[in-house]
Amino acid sequence: MTFLEFLLILLVLYYVGYIVLWILLDCNVSLWYKSRFGVSLSTMRGQVVWITGASSGIGRALAVSLARHGVRLVLSARRVKQLEDVQAECLEAARGLLAQNDVLILPMDMLQLENHQSHLYTVLNHFDRLDVLVNNAGRSQRANWTEIEIQVDRDLFELDVFSVIHLSRIVVRYFLEQNGGRGHIAATSSIAGFSPVPFSATYCAAKHALNAYLSALKVEQRKLDVTIFAPGPIATDFLLEAFTGTDGRKLGGSTANQKRLTAKRCGWLFAVALANKMDVTWCGLFPVNALAYCARNPTLTKIIGHFMTEKRLNNIREGKL
Ligand SMILES: NC(=O)c1ccc[n+]([C@@H]2O[C@H](COP(=O)([O-])OP(=O)(O)OC[C@H]3O[C@@H](n4cnc5c(N)ncnc54)[C@H](OP(=O)(O)O)[C@@H]3O)[C@@H](O)[C@H]2O)c1
Repeated sequence: MTFLEFLLILLVLYYVGYIVLWILLDCNVSLWYKSRFGVSLSTMRGQVVWITGASSGIGRALAVSLARHGVRLVLSARRVKQLEDVQAECLEAARGLLAQNDVLILPMDMLQLENHQSHLYTVLNHFDRLDVLVNNAGRSQRANWTEIEIQVDRDLFELDVFSVIHLSRIVVRYFLEQNGGRGHIAATSSIAGFSPVPFSATYCAAKHALNAYLSALKVEQRKLDVTIFAPGPIATDFLLEAFTGTDGRKLGGSTANQKRLTAKRCGWLFAVALANKMDVTWCGLFPVNALAYCARNPTLTKIIGHFMTEKRLNNIREGKL
């Protein structure tokens, strides 16, 4: 065997191994690698992380994962009772690493942009520092493209994009003034943010826009860490509150009995991505993980597009396979 043939075989084995990992793993390969060999979540101990949408689902699971390692938290959302439950769960998970004062409940409606600045002051008055902002609050959507009322497009963008960008700008200005531009902005995007899925046009567009805003931020602010965390289908209650195509009407759906990654696993992977300051990461069960890889490659996207009907894609997204 010539040296060239040997190199060729190595190359083929590398790609075959890589594709097998797409199939076997529940997240992208580099996130999996960091979860095994990257820095531990304990390196974040003592840092202050502000999580929006912390009252349930992914935000809640992320908060608990971080609390377990002594990360101080600001928990924000509108439902105060649920936030109190999350605070209690965090303190229990921390097993003495955190005191009540280390997990601040900050009730907040993301849509009230006029209050964002004073919410940041509340965080700083309490902790005297902020290290990471996690923009997690958001709502999904189920609707036919042709039937979406323009007010729904506006309302969804207001929550999933504009409120996030507004709060992030305020926090980035603080990072610039206080830390010379060092700090960490993260957001829960979605695999729908780089791969269009059927029956969620506004949501897909919103998450694409969010990704673009945050990628542009990273290009301008080189000292800033920016993490785009993109889950596939996760077992949370988010279909209850999802937008439809009709102004003011919520879906009221459920993810029960669907094949979805657990919120606990998703929250832990998100925490790994934060500790390792990763830029773009994603998670999801097969075949979502493999499809996410394909979606990031225009040629593969085209090939897959030929074989996937919108019904099949929707079944994968709804965990019905
Ligand atoms: N579950 C999935 O399959 C999936 C997949 C990809 C991406 N995501 C993204 O993950 C994020 C979290 O969703 P989830 O699945 O964990 O669903 P979830 O359990 O419904 O969580 C949504 C969170 O957003 C908060 N929220 C909604 N509207 C708000 C507002 N106006 N002001 C402040 N907080 C608000 C909710 O809190 P309150 O109601 O208490 O305010 C709740 O804590 C979202 O950005 C979603 O797009 C989810």
